[in-house]
Amino acid sequence: MDLFEYQAKELFAKHEVPTSPGRVTDTPADARTIAEEVGKPVMVKAQVKVGGRGKAGGVKYAATPDDAQKYAQDILGMDIKGHTVKRLLVAEASDIAEEYYISFLLDRANRTYLAMCSVEGGVEIEEVAATKPDRLAKVPVDAVKGVDVAFARSIAEQGHLPAEVLDAAAVTIQKLWEVFINEDATLVEVNPLVRTPDDQILALDGKVTLDANADFRQPGHAEFEDTAAADPLELKAKENDLNYVKLDGQVGVIGNGAGLVMSTLDVVAYAGEKHGGVKPANFLDIGGGASATIMAAGLDVILGDDQVKSVFVNVFGGITSCVAVAEGIIEALKTLGDAANKPLVVRLDGNSVEDGRRILAEANHPLVTVVGTMDEAADKAAELAAK
Ligand SMILES: Nc1ncnc2c1ncn2[C@@H]1O[C@H](COP(=O)(O)OP(=O)(O)OP(=O)(O)O)[C@@H](O)[C@H]1O
Ligand SMILES: [Mg+2]
Repeated sequence: MDLFEYQAKELFAKHEVPTSPGRVTDTPADARTIAEEVGKPVMVKAQVKVGGRGKAGGVKYAATPDDAQKYAQDILGMDIKGHTVKRLLVAEASDIAEEYYISFLLDRANRTYLAMCSVEGGVEIEEVAATKPDRLAKVPVDAVKGVDVAFARSIAEQGHLPAEVLDAAAVTIQKLWEVFINEDATLVEVNPLVRTPDDQILALDGKVTLDANADFRQPGHAEFEDTAAADPLELKAKENDLNYVKLDGQVGVIGNGAGLVMSTLDVVAYAGEKHGGVKPANFLDIGGGASATIMAAGLDVILGDDQVKSVFVNVFGGITSCVAVAEGIIEALKTLGDAANKPLVVRLDGNSVEDGRRILAEANHPLVTVVGTMDEAADKAAELAAK
């Protein structure tokens, strides 16, 4: 999960990373109030989960509370690369002597953590990497040893930060490492990390990605979720522990196992070409135990999508036999009652397939068509969706 800057800064505050004081808001009047509270010029900053806000006009210097209100008015509702600005961070405008770059991230390719540091901050780091690669230090971090203040100082030194600020920078960089580790982040990036005229080090921006796999031990992170922006069907799926991604097509897809579902999307898209270009409506992996409850929850989510015209249930019986799956489908249709109102094409294979198909044949449900192979089933589902 990517965080907004203001959320990243909440985590920074928790771990004593120095930032500029400020607050988040969604109204121009409140932006003025915050500016009055700060009592100094402020920055009015669009809160969107996309880079390059400054260039897009989403970061403005406001000398007075009047200006803060005016800029807030301008920036709220602005579209930045497809993201609508709903909130603003109003923070004290700091005096800046220099701008640096620091990040910690998970380096998957090298199976380690990586620190990146550069004296050339405030600009896009990709540009620094391309034009002045020697100015960007890439320092592997041993997951067991971690980062102490001495190592943090060495990271800053390798990033060519000036000698006068190495000590102050080391303290802040070490605290950013604590954010990274203690919050189970996969990215903590500060651009710019600034040096003030009196040689203080401040994190003026913050980009944090949290590892959702650690949610179970980070109960505090739930509040960062942007439920207003999430797709309601995706939310419902999440509540039921289903792996669901909404897509744009007309054929609902349910399968067990991510690989099978991915290839089901392919065959549906391929078959759809012959039927006026119908496409898969979603990705939904119900995992190993395709019980009636899980099947009902999955069907419920998919049938809640108005764009869906037909559903393709593609299950390979492994540990869960096709008998359980077939019973699950029948049970699920019963549970859903009138909510089940679109044709289902079912392809079963694997463990106890004959018995599973027999159960579906005997149930003779008006919505269910059982088809032998995956390609034929995809074709049938696409045909029904095109009708
Ligand atoms: N609190 C602040 N005080 C003074 N200047 C600031 C402050 N916050 C940001 N700035 C200035 O504005 C510039 C852009 O801000 P910031 O880095 O937060 O946004 P951005 O880089 O445009 O967005 P992103 O990092 O999402 O691409 C900074 O490089 C800095 O010069
Ligand atoms: Mg930035």
